[in-house]
Amino acid sequence: MSDFISEFWSYYIAAIALIGIVWCVWLLFSQRKVAKTTGGTEDTGHVWDGDLRELNNPLPRWWMWMFLLACIFSLAYLVLYPGLGSYAGVLKFSTQGELAAHRAAQEKMQNEIYSKYLKMDVKQVAADPQAREIGQRLFLNYCAQCHGSDARGSRGFPNLTDSDWLYGGEPDIIQQTITKGRNGVMPPFAAAIDAKQAGDVAQYVRSLSGLSSDPIRASRGEGAFKTTCVACHGAGGKGNQALGAPNLADNVWLYGSSEGSIVDAILKGHNNHMPAHEEILTPERIRMLTAYVWGLSNTGGGAGQ
Ligand code: HEC
Ligand code: HEC
Repeated sequence: MSDFISEFWSYYIAAIALIGIVWCVWLLFSQRKVAKTTGGTEDTGHVWDGDLRELNNPLPRWWMWMFLLACIFSLAYLVLYPGLGSYAGVLKFSTQGELAAHRAAQEKMQNEIYSKYLKMDVKQVAADPQAREIGQRLFLNYCAQCHGSDARGSRGFPNLTDSDWLYGGEPDIIQQTITKGRNGVMPPFAAAIDAKQAGDVAQYVRSLSGLSSDPIRASRGEGAFKTTCVACHGAGGKGNQALGAPNLADNVWLYGSSEGSIVDAILKGHNNHMPAHEEILTPERIRMLTAYVWGLSNTGGGAGQ
């Protein structure tokens, strides 16, 4: 635990502390002698204002004892606690140790609360008001910066309160998403599809969810969609949760439904990342969050609802 750059400084500090205490005790005993030899009052011979004489009285007994006890206390303290250079003390006390013990106690208390929920089905946990409160607090701490405090997401960050899922909304899939993270990758197609053709494909994509589209351009784009896009987005553009390829026919958009944003997706691709939380959160906490997120779209208990 030593913060000293060399052993020398450790001994140096320890020596100063010990010599200081020994010196104090020596001072006390040297003054005690005065009281003994004179048997009481000693006159210094100094006189002021005619009759004001300076005496050398022995130190009061109670004061001597207090002084001695203070010295004994400091020695005992230095034996028990760190104080003499890098010596750790008999009790091995350290503020880091105290913090770790405090954390462990906190963790134990929380795990007792969580263990009640570990025995329950995730869907039951989602319906429990106390569990939902815990889940919401965790969500605000760990997830809200990306998904929003109401979990409704924003451009590029999925809304977790609807029933539209990139990867799937069953509890085990949500748990997997939080634990391991996700990487939604759509390659850029600029090399295969030019900007004009991309516009036509975008018109076709818009027609899939009933948005206004130019039927002639859409029918020109249909062919390219069917050869290039269905591999991931599926027949009819209904998506593929195994790849995280969004459903393009449901009018829920991660990036926007304008021709411009769809053309951008085609030409530049997307690379979206949800970080893994297994290093940050305990499995118990991930389970509480799973229940909370599942509950947002299934029990009507969503934040802001
Ligand atoms: C750094 C930003 C970030 C943080 C923090 C984050 N997420 Fe995400 N999350 C994302 C992104 C981006 C996606 C979309 C990934 C994709 O497109 O492949 C996502 C996807 C998801 C999905 C999948 C949604 C679906 O439609 O299948 C779930 C569930 C989810 N996050 C839950 C959480 C929870 C719970 C937390 C807190 C523990 C969290 N996220 C923290 C960015 C984040
Ligand atoms: C290799 C698989 C793959 C292919 C091929 C592919 N995509 Fe994608 N696409 C994805 C994935 C994965 C995402 C989600 C990216 C993310 O999570 O951010 C996506 C996202 C999109 C989006 C954004 C959706 C939204 O909600 O905003 C559009 C639009 C899109 N793709 C259109 C197309 C079109 C058109 C083609 C064909 C030219 C195509 N994709 C080909 C995998 C693919």
